[in-house]
Amino acid sequence: MAVFAIRWRRVVATFVLAFAFTATALAQERRSYAPPDLATVRAIAAEHGMVVAQERLAAQVGADILRQGGNAVDAAVATGFALAVTYPRAGNIGGGGFMVIHSTERKEDVAIDYRETAPAATTRDIFLGPDGKPDTDKSRNSALSIGVPGTVAGLTLALAKYGSGRFTLAQILKPAIELARDGFVVTDDMADTLSDMYRRMARWQNATGTLSRTDGTPLQEGDRLIQADLAGTLSAIAEQGPRGFYEGPVAERLAAAVRDAGGIMTVDDLKSYEAVIRSPVRGSYRGYDIVSMPLPSSGGTVLLQSLNILEGFAISDMKHGSADSLHLMIEAMKRAYADRARYLGDPAFVNAPVNVLTTKEYAARQRAGIDPARATPAGDVLAVSPREGSNTTHYSVVDATGNAVSNTYTLNFPYGVGLVAAGAGVLLNNELDDFTAAPGASNAFGLVGFEANLPGPGKRPLSSMSPTIVLKDGKPVLVTGSPGGSRIISAVLQVVIDVLDYKMDVAAAVAAPRVHHQWLPDEVRVERGFPDALLAELKAKGHKVVEPLGQTSANSIAVTPGGLFGAPDPRTRGAAAAGH
Ligand code: DON
Repeated sequence: MAVFAIRWRRVVATFVLAFAFTATALAQERRSYAPPDLATVRAIAAEHGMVVAQERLAAQVGADILRQGGNAVDAAVATGFALAVTYPRAGNIGGGGFMVIHSTERKEDVAIDYRETAPAATTRDIFLGPDGKPDTDKSRNSALSIGVPGTVAGLTLALAKYGSGRFTLAQILKPAIELARDGFVVTDDMADTLSDMYRRMARWQNATGTLSRTDGTPLQEGDRLIQADLAGTLSAIAEQGPRGFYEGPVAERLAAAVRDAGGIMTVDDLKSYEAVIRSPVRGSYRGYDIVSMPLPSSGGTVLLQSLNILEGFAISDMKHGSADSLHLMIEAMKRAYADRARYLGDPAFVNAPVNVLTTKEYAARQRAGIDPARATPAGDVLAVSPREGSNTTHYSVVDATGNAVSNTYTLNFPYGVGLVAAGAGVLLNNELDDFTAAPGASNAFGLVGFEANLPGPGKRPLSSMSPTIVLKDGKPVLVTGSPGGSRIISAVLQVVIDVLDYKMDVAAAVAAPRVHHQWLPDEVRVERGFPDALLAELKAKGHKVVEPLGQTSANSIAVTPGGLFGAPDPRTRGAAAAGH
């Protein structure tokens, strides 16, 4: 432990040098967000069922399934496949993610882990350059960054086990296939992000060809985007189930595309991919049950740790958005994110002490180190040892019988690695940058890690995605989650606090400006919308305050006695609630 602590301090001291976001990948985060007047923001109401997603057509696909008698899982799977067509920057079948389900029918809460795995030929040093130092070009921009996609396995598993049984996979996939085959009209939001990404995609022969006009020029708002190859791949899945993707011609095309681009994923890697059903991370917060994503996501663990710490403070007595309240949240985040870096990784490879980290006792010891008046420097967040004592997308679904689905999935960067597998029409991820290239190195979101998250064959990189369901007396009251890399967990934390502690309308909770601290770098990122006087108060407590805060988008649903209330996040254009 002592050796660990010494290296730890060195990492804190040198972290600033190592911390670098890639400008292109996170380009969309530069767009600043001006929050609306929270007093006037209202959620969108629905009586029977609702889908809140980042893109309108895909939200509508899910709502149609609910209207036809499908349950929340049927709708979530249909929306997931539709987003792979209509929201190619993050909706995907070439990436992976997590789904948390509250099933009233089966009386259980489950988590489906469909995170990408590292190909069998992955070595511990795969993302190091000849000088032995992390080579971010390898882990973010090369075909070596492509993880074995999990989305098709995850969505089909969810449907088979937790769907209503009223729809075949082919029926669920039909709207996505039609949208890919017949096309849909490109929105201003999509045209903007595509032009941002063409330069990145141009490194690969086929990418811009699929997502551009037939003459090769960029797609513009109002154009029709037809994805015939993707329609073919989705049809193969409709006909053969997941084997249509993981075996046979589609798998061969995927592996060939990766190989031709210099990667190592093989048909055997695809054939052996398996989604995993896991027990969610569970905890309580002021009488509510929190159900969230377990490892290999750090999301549920860090969220619970933060909530456990905050439970010991009278948050609702402090004004919403006040320096006192934000300071405590920042201090809680700092401690929970530090533990993330130290201990968390794929549970198949590391024995992380989650059962200790998420206890109230552990939180009490962490809480004792918080000074309500002063920021604790990141380097001092070391005392407690549990052993001694732009791009991702999130959608939420609730149906008439109280089933709920919280799903976050991703290609990592917007449009992943920017490579579309020739003939398959599948955009591939660069998820393996979420591994830690070397002990103490950081990923594109500045998250540091150590041994627990080094690359390894078949291993899942540690994630921050935090699909979450809050229950009261066994019934869902809030379904939430977000994209945003490292900022996902802090975004979800603030939505939960605003709804549970501050009793805010879910739309106001989602719209409220957010803060973020991830232990390293030792700084508080803030969104626009906080008064200067508040920022001055945080600085006076010793926080280094930095603008802006990268993009998040917490598409959420509140379930109340008065019905369902949907909150598409106003930060990004295009998010929509579809209900009935
Ligand atoms: O799994 C993770 O934590 C990241 N790969 C998520 C990336 C992300 O949210 C990008 N979106 N803005």
